[in-house]
Amino acid sequence: MTKKTKTQNLSLHNLTYLHQYNIIVLLYCKVNNNYFLKVRKLTQKYYIKGGTPLRGEVSIGGAKNSVLKLMAAALLAKGETKIYNVPDLTDVEIMLNVIAQLGAKTTYDKTEKSVTIDATDLTSITAKYELVSKMRASFIVLGALVSRCKEAIVALPGGCAIGERRVDFHIKGLEALGAKIKIENGYVHAKAAKLTGTDIYLDIPSVGATENLMLASILADGSTRIQNAAQEPEIVDLANFLNSMGADVTGAGTSEIVINGVKQENLHPIEYTTIPDRIEAGTFMSAIIATKGKAIIKNVFPAHLTFFTDKLLKMGANIKLIEPNSLEVSCKNRLNSINFITQPYPGFPTDLQSMAMTLLTTANGVGIITESLYENRFMQVPELRRMGADIHQDRNHAIIKGVKKLTGATLAASDLRAGASLVVAALMAEGNSTIENLHHIDRGYENFESKLRLLGGKIERRDDEIISPVEPKVNLTEGLR
Ligand code: EPU
Repeated sequence: MTKKTKTQNLSLHNLTYLHQYNIIVLLYCKVNNNYFLKVRKLTQKYYIKGGTPLRGEVSIGGAKNSVLKLMAAALLAKGETKIYNVPDLTDVEIMLNVIAQLGAKTTYDKTEKSVTIDATDLTSITAKYELVSKMRASFIVLGALVSRCKEAIVALPGGCAIGERRVDFHIKGLEALGAKIKIENGYVHAKAAKLTGTDIYLDIPSVGATENLMLASILADGSTRIQNAAQEPEIVDLANFLNSMGADVTGAGTSEIVINGVKQENLHPIEYTTIPDRIEAGTFMSAIIATKGKAIIKNVFPAHLTFFTDKLLKMGANIKLIEPNSLEVSCKNRLNSINFITQPYPGFPTDLQSMAMTLLTTANGVGIITESLYENRFMQVPELRRMGADIHQDRNHAIIKGVKKLTGATLAASDLRAGASLVVAALMAEGNSTIENLHHIDRGYENFESKLRLLGGKIERRDDEIISPVEPKVNLTEGLR
C-alpha cells in the first residue's frame, strides 16, 4: 500500500509579495511533521490557438506616445486641462502618478477615456527615480517643469531592453536655452533664472528631445529654432495641443520647428482629443494580414502609416481606404518578401519592425531588415526561431528566409513591440502558443486580447500558477521549531 503524504499549508507563516508584476507566494508547508518552503508564482499568460483568419471590425485607441507628452504639456497652463481619447494603459497610469507627485490634481475616467489635469498649483519640481524608472517617457516633465518653474530635478531614466537610449540631446538643448544643468546621484538638476530662445541642432531627429525642447522653449524669451527636428505625427499633435493652449509653435511635422516664446498669462487650459495610435493600427493590420483575414480598421489616420502601408502592398496585402479614417485590410495569398530599413518618420517605423519581421517569416523568398534606431530591437528573433522561423541575425541586420509555416510554442515577451509581434506570430502559427511577461504588452495595447477576440482570434489571458518542484527543496523543520 502506498503511503499518502499529507500537506498542510500554514497561512500564519505565508508571505505574499509582488515581484516585477508577478505575485510570489511563499508557503510554509507541513509534510509528515516536517516543515518545508514552497514557492508559488502567480503570473498572467496569453493562451493562443493559431490559424483563425481575423474578420470583422476593430477600432483604434488614442496614441500612447502622444498622450503621455500631452499630459506633461498640460503642466504649462494654470487651470484644468482635459484630454480625450486616452487609452487605458499602464503607461498612462504611471504618467498620472508622476504628474500627481508634482502637485497637479488628476482624474482618469476610463469609461469616458479622458484625463483631467489641474496644474494651477505645482508643489514639487522633483520627478523621482521610483516613477521615472518605470517609464522613461516620463522624462518629458523635465522640459515642462523648467519652462513653468524655471527649475526641475528629474531622475535620469537609464537604458532599457531595446537600447542605451541616451538623453544627451535633451540636456544640450536645455543648456543652449540657458539652463544650468547638474547631473548628480542619478538626477538631472536644471535651473534657469531665465530661458532665452536660440537655434538648436539635433544630431539625430530624436522624438523625445524635440518634445522636451518644444516644452522648454514655450515660455522662453524670443524665438527657438529646432533644426533636424523629429517629424512624427505625435510631434504635430503636441504642437497643436500647445497652440490651442496659447503657445506659438510653427513648422511641426517638418525638420525645422520654430517656437516663439509667449508669457505665462497667455497660456490657458484646454480640452483636446489625442490622435489615433498609428502603431496599434499597424499591429492590427499585421495581425489581419498574417492570419489571411479580412477586416476593417476604424479610427485610423492612414496618412500616418504611408510608408508601412506601401511596404505591405508590395508584399501582396490588400489595403483599401473605405472612409477617411477607415481601412479595409485583407490578404489571401502567400506574401512576398521585401527589404527595409527602419528610419525616423516618415520612414519605416522602428515600432512596427517586429510585426513586419513576423510577416516575413512565412513570406516567399528572403527579406532583409536593417534596424537603424536601436541597438537591441531584434529580441523577438530567438522566440520566432523557436516557432520555426529561419532568421539569421548579424548586428543590426536580420535576414529572414520565409518558411511554409510557424508552429505554436511557449514564448516570452521581452519588450512592448517584440511582445506584440509574438502575439501576431502565435495567431498565424499552427497549434497552440503561450506568451508570458504580459506587462510589457499592457504598456502599449489597450484591451488587446478583447479586440483580437472580437475579430475572431482565439486568445485568452489566464492567471497561471507556477509551483516549485513537488518535492520541497528546503527543509525548514529545524528553523521553525
Ligand atoms: N538618442 C540619443 N540621444 C538623445 C536622444 C535620443 O542618442 O538625447 C538616440 C536614441 O538612443 C535612439 C534614437 O536617438 O537610438 C532615437 O530615439 P528617440 O529620442 O527618437 O526616441 P524616444 O523619444 O526615446 C520615442 C518612442 C519610441 C519610438 C521612438 C522612435 C515614446 C514614449 N517613445 O522614443 O516608442 O520607438 O520614439 O520613433 O514616444 C514604443 O512605443 O515602444 C517606443 C519605444
